[in-house]
Amino acid sequence: MKQDMIIILDLGSTKNTVIARQIRDMGVYSEIHPHDITLEELKSLENVKGIVLNGGENRIVDGAAVEIDPSLYDCGYPVIAIDHPTAKCEKTFSDLPDTDALREFVFDTCHAEANWNMKNFIEDQVELIRKQVGDKKVLLALSGGVDSSVVAAMLIKAIGQQLVCVHVNHGLMRKNESESVVQVFKDQLHANLIYVDATERFLGKLEGVADPEKKRKIIGGEFIRVFEEEARKLEGIDFLGQGTIYPDIIESGTKTAKMVKSHHNVGGLPEDLNFELVEPLKQLFKDEVRACGLELGLPSSMVYRQPFPGPGLGVRCLGAITRDRLEAVRESDAILREEFEKAGLDKKVWQYFTVSPDFKSVGVKNNARCFDYMVIIRAINTVDAMSASIERVDWDVLQRITERILAEVGNVCRVCYDMSPKPPATIEFE
Ligand code: XMP
Repeated sequence: MKQDMIIILDLGSTKNTVIARQIRDMGVYSEIHPHDITLEELKSLENVKGIVLNGGENRIVDGAAVEIDPSLYDCGYPVIAIDHPTAKCEKTFSDLPDTDALREFVFDTCHAEANWNMKNFIEDQVELIRKQVGDKKVLLALSGGVDSSVVAAMLIKAIGQQLVCVHVNHGLMRKNESESVVQVFKDQLHANLIYVDATERFLGKLEGVADPEKKRKIIGGEFIRVFEEEARKLEGIDFLGQGTIYPDIIESGTKTAKMVKSHHNVGGLPEDLNFELVEPLKQLFKDEVRACGLELGLPSSMVYRQPFPGPGLGVRCLGAITRDRLEAVRESDAILREEFEKAGLDKKVWQYFTVSPDFKSVGVKNNARCFDYMVIIRAINTVDAMSASIERVDWDVLQRITERILAEVGNVCRVCYDMSPKPPATIEFE
């Protein structure tokens, strides 16, 4: 391993990631581990330079304060404790230490070197992946999202043709999205990529289904089935690559914090497809994943892609999906993205898209009555997607987008702008 590391032991704080971020921002790698890590486990970690005991509001579990194995104090690493009274360490803090105090600990006390950067991280991961995988094969569901794309690029660098990527086009992708996955991974990075166009299959299953949750279940379930079918056709695959990132692991619950949400991975694959996981990004925060993707040579459009729901345009073509309305959503979304990029809004706005309700409205085109669809533009900003405010898009930009949608998307005669914050409106309509 190339990087020095400061270990944060979680003794019931909700601020573990804040400290980890602070230390990583100093250029020193930092990992969060549970309070009951054993001496052997700690010793097996390479290049540990110091330990932060991080207590906090969840320090008392079942009536008793959580404690570390006392032998950890004697393992030779400098220790500081936050909100966790103990006499056995260098220094204790009653609250989060400021950056200067942390710096002093990291550099003066622990003598850690500021050698945490993406180049070193990638070199380390490549080595670890090669060690884990040997000459075996790894399967990866490559959706084109940021995390799966960066995992793919990392695995290609580490094991090349031993990686088999499967890209399932469920027919609910945005305009040119599947094409760009093929172009980047097959044409540029020469990945072993299986492209499955399952459009007809998905749209067939979704026909007449209007309930949003049913639509989600069908899309998610069918996705796993298609992927499983592809996996069964292949032989000699022992590993499954996965774009798990650090927040996924933290949100799955620690020993002291309650689970925030279940770990959302490819999941649901049958037991007999017995894969071992390869998760090279599982220690990275989202912005570090993006930096890693850029370092691996992925285009910035892929690395800075805005969030896009798994069920894709399926939850933006509201109610029962029809092909003509799906096209209206896809085309209007492409125009919106193009114009947002031209106006520089793509770098400013967190998420922006169009939806189309499942009813028509009366309009006039070419001096004749028409009965066409409506498109609603939504553009929001948020920090964590739990609450969101709308972007106050410049009137001229909105007008240009409206004019283009009305001129270029044949079956649309009305464009609206959604003014609703979350709550009460969710970001997506379904
Ligand atoms: P909501 O609509 O709940 O969206 O305010 C919050 C964020 O989550 C995304 N989203 C989804 N992502 N599968 C996903 O992978 C889904 O079914 C799904 N529904 C919503 C949404 O785009 C927003 O970023």
